[in-house]
Amino acid sequence: PLVTTKEMLLRAQAGHYAVGAFNVENMEMVMAVVQAAEESRAPVIMQTTPSTVKYAGLDYYLAMAKAAAERATVPVAMHLDHGDSFELAMQALRTGYTSIMIDGSHDSFEDNIALTRRVTDACAPSGVPVEAELGKVGGKEDDLEGGDGNPFTDPQQAKEFVERTGVDSLAVAIGTAHGLYKGVPKLDFDRLSAIRELVSIPLVLHGASGVPDEAVRESIRRGICKVNFATELRIAFSDGVKKYLAEDPDAFDPKKYCKVGRANVVALVKEKIALCGSNGQA
Ligand code: 13P
Ligand code: ZN
Ligand code: NA
Repeated sequence: PLVTTKEMLLRAQAGHYAVGAFNVENMEMVMAVVQAAEESRAPVIMQTTPSTVKYAGLDYYLAMAKAAAERATVPVAMHLDHGDSFELAMQALRTGYTSIMIDGSHDSFEDNIALTRRVTDACAPSGVPVEAELGKVGGKEDDLEGGDGNPFTDPQQAKEFVERTGVDSLAVAIGTAHGLYKGVPKLDFDRLSAIRELVSIPLVLHGASGVPDEAVRESIRRGICKVNFATELRIAFSDGVKKYLAEDPDAFDPKKYCKVGRANVVALVKEKIALCGSNGQA
């Protein structure tokens, strides 16, 4: 069934594992993520970024998530990832998304708090949980390693941010970046532990594609309850399609090549669920 991320993340926190959150782009990826969760007996989160939402619309993605969730016996949530405006957050709320991220991390501390507070106030009556971000998770072009003045999350600020916004979960910047990495990312685990000491809500790790498994496990041991994977799923799907088309360049039935992409995503998501330790938790 389709549920919110509220109880899912609190249960993960209590059980010392993390729920995998997987970015989906099309129907096959929705099908694959839910199939992997079902076969792993794991709660699961699917999520769409603003650029994905632009591609097909919130209504399309929610309809696909609902169809998949209704067939599933494990809890499934549909989350707005990196919501970049109050308006988009409200559109997701009205459409029926069961979890919303408002990302004010590019604003000043005070503006981030004000924006996040508006969203938590608006979502509270319907019980839809809100994720926010403090500090900056790098983008594809950013090279966080060795850079000076890295805007990692400050533990004291995180405490104040959570108190003043009433958010349900917090994405932290501890050295991960979206996309793949040039080298091996070095995560600031001590910082994560320091945040955990001061903040009691579930913490979220963004940019997990390309992060070594052991670093993901260590993050979870230190308080991460939701781990976001996007790039590796895109690669898995595309690799499957490319492989099929390379072997049969005259293929023209989308079912044929999408099926291979879908199977690749199922396998990858099962691995990530096992990495998060959420298998068997549903
Ligand atoms: P990756 O693309 O590095 O997996 O990041 C995913 C993410 O943080 C989505 O919000
Ligand atoms: Zn992210
Ligand atoms: Na990454």
